[in-house]
Amino acid sequence: MSNRAFKHLTVMRDEVVRALSPKDDGVYVDATLGGGGHTEALLEASEGARVVGLDRDQVAIEAAKERLAPFGARFEAVHARFGDAGEVVPKVAAKAGKPGVDGIVADLGVSSPQLDDATRGMSFRKEASDAPLDMRMDRSQGRTVRELIEELEEEALADVIFDFGEERRSRKIAKSIKRAETEGQLATTGDLRHAIYRAVGGDKEHGIDPATRTFQALRIAVNDELGELDRLLAALPTLLAGDGVAAIISFHSLEDGRVKRAFADEAVWDVTSKKPIVATEAETAENPRARSAKLRVARRRREGEVRDERTEKQAKYEARKARRHGTGAGS
Ligand SMILES: C[S@@+](CC[C@H](N)C(=O)[O-])C[C@H]1O[C@@H](n2cnc3c(N)ncnc32)[C@H](O)[C@@H]1O
Repeated sequence: MSNRAFKHLTVMRDEVVRALSPKDDGVYVDATLGGGGHTEALLEASEGARVVGLDRDQVAIEAAKERLAPFGARFEAVHARFGDAGEVVPKVAAKAGKPGVDGIVADLGVSSPQLDDATRGMSFRKEASDAPLDMRMDRSQGRTVRELIEELEEEALADVIFDFGEERRSRKIAKSIKRAETEGQLATTGDLRHAIYRAVGGDKEHGIDPATRTFQALRIAVNDELGELDRLLAALPTLLAGDGVAAIISFHSLEDGRVKRAFADEAVWDVTSKKPIVATEAETAENPRARSAKLRVARRRREGEVRDERTEKQAKYEARKARRHGTGAGS
């Protein structure tokens, strides 16, 4: 897919640049390269910063390479899952002769081209009804959603739809999907949508298509999106140099809760704002996808920083106490 065909509106571009404030000699990782929007913004914001972009989708990698070619050696793309960042990023830092990278951004979920490309089977839109039941971001490996549905018993399928889609009618929906499978009526995304409508009706609820949650749940399961995020979050503290910054944009509560909990460890992280940063009204008016975006930013503390802060506080306390009791130096 050419760069011109890869149309994805970057969410909270300026906020991410402010959070990472790239230094000229800095090395940064964009864990979700996608169309290259955040990477481009970071490269433009400094004279010399370098960015290594990861993506599990080869199509995204090729499009980003084309877009970012003008930055020459300051940009590099790696076809990898960010769940493997624990292996990939230390190599990036070592190559730059650094103990860790200076910043990492992750803009979770799928890109617009992935949703819009009918052949990927992620969309429930009528125009994409003939798409095969695939849903993989990386089509070179892993099982398709058709294979996942085949593999799961009805109850386990219902659990997936409930847990990852927060869909309270998950049991009915799972039953109907399994029935469609047995009847040989489950080959396309149109068939899947039809099975969902058969269970819960096709009317929109508060403007939301009744297939939305189930499609989201199955996509999350096929791509192990939460497992990938957990692995990235577990590795993060070891990937960043002291004072390095992590900026993570999530799009639903299952992701945001995980990010919030990971950053709660005060011995490791200095969270820059307690509440997540949200997109401006101007941005959400232009890009509806930005409405549900939440950006959390945390600085990796320097080695011994908490200990030093505690020692400092303790010393101040001792001095105050000594003054009160008239036992301080010079008394
Ligand atoms: C929302 S898009 C990123 C868009 C990008 N920030 C931009 O502005 O152009 C998310 C991208 O992350 C990729 N992705 C999702 N999960 C991934 C994972 N576990 N490992 C690597 N890439 C992943 C997707 O393939 C997709 O291209």
